[in-house]
Amino acid sequence: MRKDHMDATESNFALSEIESLSEKARQVVAQSKNRGSIPNPDAHAKICGCCGDTMQIDLLLSEGKIRSAAFDTDGCAASIACGSVITQLVIGQALTVASQITPQDVIAALDGLPQDHLHCANLVVKTLQIAITEYKEKKTGNNA
Ligand code: FES
Repeated sequence: MRKDHMDATESNFALSEIESLSEKARQVVAQSKNRGSIPNPDAHAKICGCCGDTMQIDLLLSEGKIRSAAFDTDGCAASIACGSVITQLVIGQALTVASQITPQDVIAALDGLPQDHLHCANLVVKTLQIAITEYKEKKTGNNA
């Protein structure tokens, strides 16, 4: 996995933003597991959310399962927490299972998110769903 992060790092965030996160979310941000990109991913999506921040997800697949996942974002600390936790949730899962992950699942895995950062979970789930949908369309040749 390449560690070609966008600009955002924990040190760029206001202390108040970090402090507004749960202890679990703070740990996830500090570790930032799976942050970066996968060269030549099987599935990829990069989208801009309603807040103007970008999220990208790369997936490596085999036999219908997600073998590796990476995310990157130029967004807030919550978006790093959401991106990291969703990659951890999907690795080892079948695509059909991964495509059913909801923003509520992401929020629960982080022991909650501040009200004004709930949309960050929507952004990461939408990115994952687009990556999976486009992969399926590419495989079946329906992307014309
Ligand atoms: Fe934009 Fe969190 S992703 S505020």
